[in-house]
Amino acid sequence: MVILNLGKKQNKKKLHSGEGVRLGKYELGRILGEGNFGKVKFARNTDSGQPYAIKIIDKNKIIDLNITNQIKREICALKLLRHPNVVKLYEVLASKTKIYMVLEYVTGEELFDKIASKGKLPEGEGRKLFQQLIDGVSYCHSKGVFHRDLKLENVLVDAKGNLKITDFGLSALPQQFRADGLLHTTCGSANYVAPEILANRGYNGASSDVWSCGVILYVVLTGFLPFDDRNLAVLYQKVLKGDFQKPKWLSAGAQNIIKRILDPNPKTRITMAEIKEDLWFKEGYNQAYHEDEEDGVYVDDQAFNIHELSHEEEKSSSQSPIRINAFQLIGMSSCLDLSGFFEKEDVSERKIRFTANLSAKVLMEKIEDSVTEMEFRVQKKNGKMKVMQENKDHKTLGSLSVIIEVFEISSSLYVVELRKCYGDASVYRQLCKKLLNDLGVPHEKH
Ligand code: ADE
Repeated sequence: MVILNLGKKQNKKKLHSGEGVRLGKYELGRILGEGNFGKVKFARNTDSGQPYAIKIIDKNKIIDLNITNQIKREICALKLLRHPNVVKLYEVLASKTKIYMVLEYVTGEELFDKIASKGKLPEGEGRKLFQQLIDGVSYCHSKGVFHRDLKLENVLVDAKGNLKITDFGLSALPQQFRADGLLHTTCGSANYVAPEILANRGYNGASSDVWSCGVILYVVLTGFLPFDDRNLAVLYQKVLKGDFQKPKWLSAGAQNIIKRILDPNPKTRITMAEIKEDLWFKEGYNQAYHEDEEDGVYVDDQAFNIHELSHEEEKSSSQSPIRINAFQLIGMSSCLDLSGFFEKEDVSERKIRFTANLSAKVLMEKIEDSVTEMEFRVQKKNGKMKVMQENKDHKTLGSLSVIIEVFEISSSLYVVELRKCYGDASVYRQLCKKLLNDLGVPHEKH
């Protein structure tokens, strides 16, 4: 068995919990997965014996996040989707506190588990899955529904090798909010997210879904992620630059389509229609047949019979959207404890990174002022700053040398990196703390 590093799986499955509970005509069984919205459980219709998957959404979380209307719209859009490569929504039920989405049950496994245990797929097999992925995703786009969180964990493969996409249209929850309603940086999804989303520039749902399909194709054909790093700041840099390795052993056709999809510029990135015209993609392609039927789907409006905020309430609500991007989130999550700034793998705590909204020029000036106040000497070369403090009595004892670099993430967002070359750890810590204070970066003061 091959175990590959495909990033941290977003949600671990519990095999047995709460089995035997009844929900109308359904009997609930084991947990199949845990998504952004809550648990997905196996269920059986006790009249027909048919298996289903039921997604359980906590109503309070939706109310708390002030996204009731969004969820309503998205679930209504979901009922329009009827495609062999998209998990079907059969009906929506509600209790006082929960919404239950009754979904098609897919026997098989997540693409994540398939690749993690077996490794990369032969090109022909990978292409077949990719063709189905593009069929399903482009069909949903034609209905005005975008996924925005496509990743291996959201792609199921049934026993016959048929691909089914889950969680389509359920993107109303901001990525950082999960079922517990708390802020989370999404390490798993970050590997799949398009650069324009990271840069918070506003994005087109179709082209960012194309990007994520490209990441999935890359993993399927190579067995590893195109963009990966233990440090989120570095990972985002790679994504923003479209900086990935192109394995020479892939066919020219596969390399070409991957390059055209993983184009960091969404304006020049290949479109769904162009993917379907690509020679490598078209080999052996049989577009899935699907009927646009809507019968059998019943959305119970009771499911949405929940308090909706008035305009005034909405305006004064503390839950109004916060326009922050993933980088600022990392900054915020590090506020709690200075030790979080230091890279875990670096036992000597040599390196720290943090984000700032000041321009590179202003940052460098402020850093220079701050360190000269501590009587450090500054040398600037190639956009980097070397900061030195020498012990006059002893050349090495008590002396410190630090390299400081500023990386531009977007026009208003920068990452500052401090790297200790050598010297006293406690003096380095003092320097880091003073710099964070002087730059107004929140951290624990002690
Ligand atoms: N895990 C998540 N959704 C599922 C589904 N519809 N069928 C089987 N397993 C799942």
